Amino acid sequence: MIELKNVSKWYGQVQVLNNCSTRIEKGEVVVVAGPSGSGKSTLIKTINALEPFQKGEIWVDGVPVHDPKTNLPKLRSRVGMVFQHFELFPHLTVTENLTIAQIKVLGRSKSDALAHGLKYLERVGLLAHKDKFPGQLSGGQQQRVAIARALSMDPIVMLFDEPTSALDPEMVGEVLDVMVGLANEGMTMMVVTHEMGFARKVGSRVIFMDVGGKILEDCSTEEFFGHPDGRQPRTKEFLHKILQH
Ligand SMILES: Nc1ncnc2c1ncn2[C@@H]1O[C@H](COP(=O)(O)OP(=O)(O)OP(=O)(O)O)[C@@H](O)[C@H]1O
Ligand SMILES: [Mg+2]
Repeated sequence: MIELKNVSKWYGQVQVLNNCSTRIEKGEVVVVAGPSGSGKSTLIKTINALEPFQKGEIWVDGVPVHDPKTNLPKLRSRVGMVFQHFELFPHLTVTENLTIAQIKVLGRSKSDALAHGLKYLERVGLLAHKDKFPGQLSGGQQQRVAIARALSMDPIVMLFDEPTSALDPEMVGEVLDVMVGLANEGMTMMVVTHEMGFARKVGSRVIFMDVGGKILEDCSTEEFFGHPDGRQPRTKEFLHKILQH
């Protein structure tokens, strides 16, 4: 579904992705972890061309992201993205947030977009809130709306960038529940997160990045958690820090 071949990116002189290669098969849930500044956000944003890169190739469902001739808006409409800060339109109701891109980007009729949007809003348990504005919802609820909005576009893959790290602890679970449900249904997902419980529960693989934008580890979840002795010293140090509490 996704293939990265020797992807490198620089900001001026500073290299932020260093020869990154990986493959994500249909239905896989890949968790991306690593220290702050290691390039996790940059890596997943290259996949839907939100971040340009100077070297290498990225293929999404056979579409070459690196090819200047590729229709990037069309590609982006097929790759769902959920950010740390929900980025809902504050001046639009939940329903309008759910339907606007379906109408403007996919050309769906208003009624079709509404049916689609409400189906996913129900799925994340928020149908009763359809006429509210984002500011009237909790953080966890806003993030679930953001997930429903992404799903309303019928994406072939979902990218998540620390979807729970801005939430109050009590709201993390409700968002992770939605994500676990998606994973169990077979959605292809790439998830930047430090929620190692989530990684163990539904992750197929873990990618661990280190500062400088290098993929230090890329292995199955069982290998990652089950064989700590096989991990790189940097990975062990990181896991020790985030798991010790
Ligand atoms: N617009 C920019 N200009 C210059 N450098 C940037 C820019 N955006 C990011 N960087 C640098 O790129 C590197 C990777 O950043 P990125 O946001 O991908 O890291 P991250 O692993 O997602 O970190 P965090 O865990 O804090 O979210 C960092 O060193 C960062 O300072
Ligand atoms: Mg980040």
